[in-house]
Amino acid sequence: METIRTIQGLRSKLAGLRRERETTVGFMPTLGYMHEGHLSLIRAAKAQDGIVVLSIFVNPLQFGPNEDFAKYPRDTARDLKMAEEAGVDVAFVPDVEEMYPTPMRTKVSVSEVSERLCGASRPGHFDGVAAVVLKLFNIVQPDHAYFGLKDAQQVAVIEQMVHDLNVPVKIVPCPTLRESDGLAMSSRNVYLSPEERSQAPILNRALAEAEEALQNGEVRPEQLRQLVANRISEASLSDIDYVEVMQYPSLTPLDPQVTPKQLIVAVAVRFGKTRLIDNRILDLERMPSHV
Ligand code: PAJ
Repeated sequence: METIRTIQGLRSKLAGLRRERETTVGFMPTLGYMHEGHLSLIRAAKAQDGIVVLSIFVNPLQFGPNEDFAKYPRDTARDLKMAEEAGVDVAFVPDVEEMYPTPMRTKVSVSEVSERLCGASRPGHFDGVAAVVLKLFNIVQPDHAYFGLKDAQQVAVIEQMVHDLNVPVKIVPCPTLRESDGLAMSSRNVYLSPEERSQAPILNRALAEAEEALQNGEVRPEQLRQLVANRISEASLSDIDYVEVMQYPSLTPLDPQVTPKQLIVAVAVRFGKTRLIDNRILDLERMPSHV
């Protein structure tokens, strides 16, 4: 594996590899502090692409003024070791100066899909994500880009951007990896105190109950929402930011006149200072009873 810190260096390395191997490039952008969830994206790329590129960059543009940019967990040496073992060919690890040598004057703003859920509680977050991902796409020029459905809204935002701007890349959404007790893997889980950590799996349990209720014929979004919110509130350290039931991938409210193909139950919950997100995308066409 080669670790490259400059855009120019990456471009020439990839040009060489493409000439040598005549194969496709798979890419997964990350903030680092890798876990099995990140590794699952690398495995998906390895199965499909002859050249696998990973980026590790804590992107200041997507963190709000009161968020954890400075304190976001970082361990690049460990990340690079994991990436190498997983079979990454090139790790791109730019610093902030390399990615943003001058203040950004260009905004990448995906309306509608960016506005609800995490977009409502983290204003500007998805503009920052869209901007850095578009920059990274232009730098790497991958054939396939792998994203986790743990961040389902992020997938929806990127897919909309790629569609609107004709970015020549195929987005590959990948399933959420979980700890054995159901907690969705996240770099932020390390912030949880032992007591918060023991309560956090309630998110997955509440979402599983919503799925079960839907399978048993409970199709009213408000009832599903309440069920999830009530279950999560039973955890004494939980502080709900949102619980929403929406159409997926449009992330628009459910229209009682129209049966969507898929809906998403999405939650964001604080445990102490740590904000966790999780979701279930439910395929209504495969449910015994339709909405
Ligand atoms: P980060 O949180 O590091 O996540 C990098 C990728 O790993 C994302 O596509 C995310 O959805 C995926 N991922 C995280 N946890 C996962 C899990 N438990 N199971 C499966 N996939 C998981 O998301 C970002 O970084 C940034 O916003 C980024 C896209 C890199 C832009 O800066």
